[in-house]
Amino acid sequence: MSTATLNRLRGDFPGLVTAEGKVWHYLDSGATAQKPRSVIDAMSRALGPDYATVHRGVYARSAEMTLAYEAARRRVATFIGGAADELVFTRGATEAINLVAQSWGAATLGPGDRILLSVLEHHSNIVPWQLLQARAGFAIDVCPLTAEGCIDLDAAEAMLTRAHKLVAFAHVSNVLGSVLDAARAARLAHGVGAKLLLDGCQAVPRLPVDVAALGCDFYAFSAHKLYGPTGIGALWARGEILDAMPPWQGGGAMIDRVDFAGTSYAPAPQRFEAGTPAITEAIALAAAIDYVEAIGREAICAHEAALTRRLRDGLRATNRITLFGPEDSAGIVSFAMDGVHPHDLGTILDEENVAIRAGHHCAQPLMAHLGVSATARASFGLYNDESDIAALLRGIERTRRIFG
Ligand code: ALA
Repeated sequence: MSTATLNRLRGDFPGLVTAEGKVWHYLDSGATAQKPRSVIDAMSRALGPDYATVHRGVYARSAEMTLAYEAARRRVATFIGGAADELVFTRGATEAINLVAQSWGAATLGPGDRILLSVLEHHSNIVPWQLLQARAGFAIDVCPLTAEGCIDLDAAEAMLTRAHKLVAFAHVSNVLGSVLDAARAARLAHGVGAKLLLDGCQAVPRLPVDVAALGCDFYAFSAHKLYGPTGIGALWARGEILDAMPPWQGGGAMIDRVDFAGTSYAPAPQRFEAGTPAITEAIALAAAIDYVEAIGREAICAHEAALTRRLRDGLRATNRITLFGPEDSAGIVSFAMDGVHPHDLGTILDEENVAIRAGHHCAQPLMAHLGVSATARASFGLYNDESDIAALLRGIERTRRIFG
């Protein structure tokens, strides 16, 4: 992206300045992305002059809000190449994966069955399966990584058997930025009759995603990493799978008819949205998608790839740095500084108005695999530029001097 375009885009994000009005070098979009003004405005309108409930009111404002909420569902579904009736709004990716586990998983998995996860999964794609495993008694296998930090699909091919009912992998690693060959993962899973679930949290903000082309069965993601609000995310599931899934949370809005003699349920996706939904968040998520699509996901992907290369080259040229993950990682770079805990590095960088994430990144099995307790992680958004990388490298240099 040109400097003029980037300056214009940065101007759309009121969060990119410090309380003192200085430039904030925000390199933590992998945790949560800053919001453009159009998303803030959409949320504010929906909470203000447009506000009403959905699916219940007999008055015009509620009917309009229902149309806007369902239009948001279509917008989100189309964004990832799915259909609106395959798209369930959830509180986030975590809830989306828990939904699959507690609905599809509880109805499908039992003793003798196996599922395949990988070493690099976020805890949100490990713990929901362990919670279900305690009740359902299936086995969990863990696919290893290649030397550069990608899910090793050759190993997955060797591990998969007809006992496997599910393969659940991150589309992009939140720590290493490694991108899964999702189409191959789908072929491998389907080859043994298993379903493929993709955790798309880190993929949707930085790669074009088309669930039909990927061939997956479930796709989960959050809005807040996609420049949208917190408190909402989505589960896309292949139509015939979603239609057959039992409800997992009961309440209003998800029923057909309630009777003490027995209750019948609404069709999908309503069956999975008990209670008053996150109305304003859904509308703001649609606004975030409009914003991202106006820039273009290919352009964002190329921009972040160029920044990633620059940062990796800069870190490689810096003493005492260990780099993790593949060279072509998608917008996320994890590293360690010899003799400096990532938390200390993050604190010193904060004094320089540089924000990174330091810790285990909700991926403790991956930390154990890397032989560290924590890493420092810089993750890009569409608004980052070379000045953010320069500020990070200056901050690392200052940290090196402080620690001697
Ligand atoms: N999963 C988010 C991250 O990686 C919170 O930072």
